Amino acid sequence: MNISIIGGTGTIGSHVVRTLAERGHAPLALARSEAAAQAVRDLGGVPHTGSLDDPETIRHLVAEAHAVLLLTGNGPDQVRHECGAIDAVAATSKATIVKVSVPGAAADSPFEIGKVHHTIEEHLRASGLDHSVVRPGWLMQNIALVTGGIRDRDELALPIGEGAVAAIDARDVALVCALLLEDPTGAAGTDHMLIGAADITGTSMAAALSSGAGRPIAFRDSTLDEFSATLLASGVPEAAVGDLGMLYDVIIRHGFLAGASNAAPDLTAQPARTFEDFATAHRDWFTRS
Ligand SMILES: NC(=O)c1ccc[n+]([C@@H]2O[C@H](COP(=O)([O-])OP(=O)(O)OC[C@H]3O[C@@H](n4cnc5c(N)ncnc54)[C@H](OP(=O)(O)O)[C@@H]3O)[C@@H](O)[C@H]2O)c1
Repeated sequence: MNISIIGGTGTIGSHVVRTLAERGHAPLALARSEAAAQAVRDLGGVPHTGSLDDPETIRHLVAEAHAVLLLTGNGPDQVRHECGAIDAVAATSKATIVKVSVPGAAADSPFEIGKVHHTIEEHLRASGLDHSVVRPGWLMQNIALVTGGIRDRDELALPIGEGAVAAIDARDVALVCALLLEDPTGAAGTDHMLIGAADITGTSMAAALSSGAGRPIAFRDSTLDEFSATLLASGVPEAAVGDLGMLYDVIIRHGFLAGASNAAPDLTAQPARTFEDFATAHRDWFTRS
């Protein structure tokens, strides 16, 4: 079967490409640079060179597909890019779409990103295409935002106090996406809230990171200003910084993202990866050069 991937070089999508390749597929993945094309090849996929800004590229990407992963990063072009891709599928293959969204996407979401995903989901519903929606909770890989402090100062600095969060590994999200893409008929009409299987805190994350890195790493409750500056320095678009600050300093700090769920293991029939698994697998991120 033909599977096309949009966002296959990102945090979740790269694992979707790798997982599909491991399961015997050769997914066709959009790549907007030669480096991205090589990354797709290294993951076991087939690169399709071009940008989401080029409608003809996207038409060719999806024209022969049976299933399409729809995922783009948060940014000012997200609605235009994702709605354009939906239109391209509707005009060509009419493939089943697996869309990566967020929990609580709604017109009146307090988060801009929740409104953005809601707009895209409305467009998807209106297209009449078969589709499913995957809503990952807080990803363990979000630690990438603060790896500089871990490497340079042996500290995990996040504005979350002792707030707990049910974190999920992007690799578990990717496996769910891969299973849905493999079974486009069964996937149609489904909606999956993928909250992590264990509640963790900054202190317990730091303990796991210490084991993974082989040296003590301490948790520090940082200020919102400091966290915002770190986000900007790591390339997060300015428009997304406010949302992320509220997510950490209000929502996670006050425990609103706690409440573990077995949704992913129930779908994949595999145990959920723990934060210890994550820290061990990503020890390179925390190692000093
Ligand atoms: N992080 C979380 O905790 C979380 C939780 C739930 C849901 N989500 C949602 O998941 C999505 C983000 O997933 P992610 O973290 O995997 O994203 P990501 O790492 O930012 O990846 C974005 C992907 O989109 C591609 N892309 C962006 N603009 C493009 C263009 N003009 N042409 C071609 N490709 C383009 C990027 O390609 P390049 O590699 O070339 O940049 C990359 O492959 C967002 O919609 C977010 O709201 C995130």
